[in-house]
Amino acid sequence: MQCRIAEIRYLEEQAGIRSTSGDAAPRLPISRRRLRISVVGGAMRRLKPIAVAFIVVFAAAQFVRPERTNPATDPSRAIQAQVGTSRGLVAVLDRACGDCHSNATVWPWYAHIAPVSWLMAYGVKKGRNAVNFSEWGAYPPEQRRILLALSCQDASEGKMPGPYSRLRPDTRLSAQDIETICAAARQVDAHAGGSR
Ligand code: HEC
Repeated sequence: MQCRIAEIRYLEEQAGIRSTSGDAAPRLPISRRRLRISVVGGAMRRLKPIAVAFIVVFAAAQFVRPERTNPATDPSRAIQAQVGTSRGLVAVLDRACGDCHSNATVWPWYAHIAPVSWLMAYGVKKGRNAVNFSEWGAYPPEQRRILLALSCQDASEGKMPGPYSRLRPDTRLSAQDIETICAAARQVDAHAGGSR
């Protein structure tokens, strides 16, 4: 409060409402409106450096550009090319999982703006490391079986594509989409002799 009074007095002096000679009575009656304007003006003046700093940091951040490339892919290695992959499964994976688990990520415009670009590049890198459906042919059969089983489980529990589907509603899975993934997992499981 003390600060506030001192500040108002200072602003009054600046505005020429109050004389600087200290104890002398103010020369002019203080208009409330004018006082309010000076107080608001003071707050604006204090916020300005913060706003400027924010803009400078935001602009500088744009120069830190993460890798947002889609690596070259041998189409014959992709899950789409594997014998026995149903069209239905391909469609679901392309639509709902491909942005994070393939080499064919669609980078939207906001993926070029920091800090969203950093988050998305990080997520895609982690996603591709976990499962890359574009490199399916490189996984040994046992790993494919496990990854499909996990895909079924994660999709059923709503963990995949998870909160991403709120940002991109077209990636949302219907009950039938989940069943398509789980059917593929069961098929591979049966093929492996049901060894589980
Ligand atoms: C927004 C990005 C994103 C989308 C979309 C997405 N995932 Fe993931 N997924 C990840 C990330 C990141 C990980 C790694 C999680 C970790 O390391 O903790 C992961 C991990 C996985 C794993 C590894 C096993 C596990 O449980 O951790 C499977 C399987 C998987 N995802 C399947 C899918 C399927 C199937 C879809 C589509 C229905 C999908 N994901 C959609 C980001 C995504």
